[in-house]
Amino acid sequence: MSIGTVGVVGLGTMGAGIAQVCLEAGHVVVARDVEQRFVDAGVAKIEAGLDKRVEKGLMTGPDAEAARGRLTATTDVDALAGAGIVIEAIVEELAPKQALFAELDRICGADTILATNTSALSVSAVASASSRALPSTVSTVPVKPSNVDSSLATATSRLPPAPDPSNQYVAPPTETCDSG
Ligand SMILES: NC(=O)c1ccc[n+]([C@@H]2O[C@H](COP(=O)([O-])OP(=O)(O)OC[C@H]3O[C@@H](n4cnc5c(N)ncnc54)[C@H](O)[C@@H]3O)[C@@H](O)[C@H]2O)c1
Repeated sequence: MSIGTVGVVGLGTMGAGIAQVCLEAGHVVVARDVEQRFVDAGVAKIEAGLDKRVEKGLMTGPDAEAARGRLTATTDVDALAGAGIVIEAIVEELAPKQALFAELDRICGADTILATNTSALSVSAVASASSRALPSTVSTVPVKPSNVDSSLATATSRLPPAPDPSNQYVAPPTETCDSG
């Protein structure tokens, strides 16, 4: 299954890290934050992270440069329109996450996977703001079964396959993920 362009929303601690590993895995990444200063700070974190990989000999300089070239960082939410998966990593509050999922539902294609990085919120509650959320919402971190309303979960056929070792940024589908 080809994921295509990866969208990341929120370029704080988690979003910058998620964007970095996606770039390292060879993906084109479109990352969005609400203000240019947060975008700039996120890009600086990503670049520092790539530099560290090169320093440690875990990545070549040209590969790091190519990774930087695959990143688009913006405040424009519409830039996420072409993403195959959008990973949300914004503040840990339900209302903003739901507002974002409603916006992504409007902007993104019907096949786009919307993923939440929530630590403790109900994945089902976040997903409920999107009309396509139940078939295509996964969590990027392991979640407790209590975070998912099992009455809303459906088949797992549309979830991405378990990641291989070079592609570990999406949790493998498990019973703890909303699925469909
Ligand atoms: N920090 C951790 O160790 C950790 C671990 C696992 C999961 N999480 C979860 O990941 C998510 C992000 O956590 P974090 O620590 O990276 O937060 P953070 O505060 O470092 O970053 C959040 C970013 O989201 C941006 N943002 C807020 N609303 C936005 C919107 N509508 N659109 C785009 N950007 C928006 C903020 O400007 C900020 O840059 C949370 O749900 C958190 O619970 C965090």
